[in-house]
Amino acid sequence: MRILLSGIAALGLAMAVMPAAQAEPIKIKFSHVVADSTPKGKGALEFKRLVEQRLPGKVVVEVYPNSQLFGDAKEMEALLLGDVQIIAPSLSKFSKFTSKLQVFDLPFLFDDIHAIDRFQKGKIGQGLLTSMESKGYTGLGYWHNGMKQMSANKPLRVPEDAKGLKFRIQSSDVLEAQFKALGSNPQKMAFAEVYQALQTGTVDGQENTWSNIYSQKFHEAQKYITETNHGVIDYMVVTNTKFWKGLPNDVRPVVEKAMAEATVFANKLADDINEADKKKIMESGKTEIITLTKEQAAQWRKAMAPVYKQFEPEVGKDLIDAALASNTAG
Ligand code: LMR
Repeated sequence: MRILLSGIAALGLAMAVMPAAQAEPIKIKFSHVVADSTPKGKGALEFKRLVEQRLPGKVVVEVYPNSQLFGDAKEMEALLLGDVQIIAPSLSKFSKFTSKLQVFDLPFLFDDIHAIDRFQKGKIGQGLLTSMESKGYTGLGYWHNGMKQMSANKPLRVPEDAKGLKFRIQSSDVLEAQFKALGSNPQKMAFAEVYQALQTGTVDGQENTWSNIYSQKFHEAQKYITETNHGVIDYMVVTNTKFWKGLPNDVRPVVEKAMAEATVFANKLADDINEADKKKIMESGKTEIITLTKEQAAQWRKAMAPVYKQFEPEVGKDLIDAALASNTAG
């Protein structure tokens, strides 16, 4: 009996000096649809690095690129269900949840990525980050990709060249209207399906940034890319509002700061990555890059202009005017 008692006492003592069992780390799954080498891919990895360096053992960030975990169709729903905690869809993919973000899809609205940056950093742009909170989504920041170019298997120099062609578009009614204005047939399609659709001829062309075209090898399936710079692909990094608010008080500010820093990091890289990928596409010799004359560019702008009037009631004239003003401000 005495042996048994002293055994129990020894066990008690041992347990008292043992460190308390470590709580499981909080897991943040960050899912996106592009390659690690793109601005978004690099931003996601930088966010992981910063969070795990500053909250070792407390938070783990798992990054899933290339639609590995969720593609375009499922990611918003998965975020609400808690199957993923952060996603960063292009601003063209939110129209089911808010009509306001459609402003970013209006053709030839922004002169360049700097104008977009000014608009996003301004009061209105920042306000849009919380425009979906009633639906359960909180925007954590804007990440840049870049300006869109148009590709096809025939040279696109003037708007008439696009007539009758099938173009893959993101799930955006504004982009649908943009191609309809050209007399083309737009087809909404998930990003992961585009390469095959180009290769098999399901669609004739597409619009995207240099970094997406290069990393997905779209240029290998398209004979011509016209440098139109007619629109933008940028992202809103979004989380599940409940999840974010529920993060412990000693964790959330650190994660928020890491997100702010990853945002600066990704946005600084975006222009350079797109320029470098454009060069790689040129050097590949697999496609011809067409530069528009001023007159030709003006024709594209004019052909797509009716889209503004069509979407003004939904998007709001004030919002469109504020976005236009960012071209000159600063
Ligand atoms: C696309 O679907 O073309 C893009 O939105 C993909 C992306 O995330 O850049």
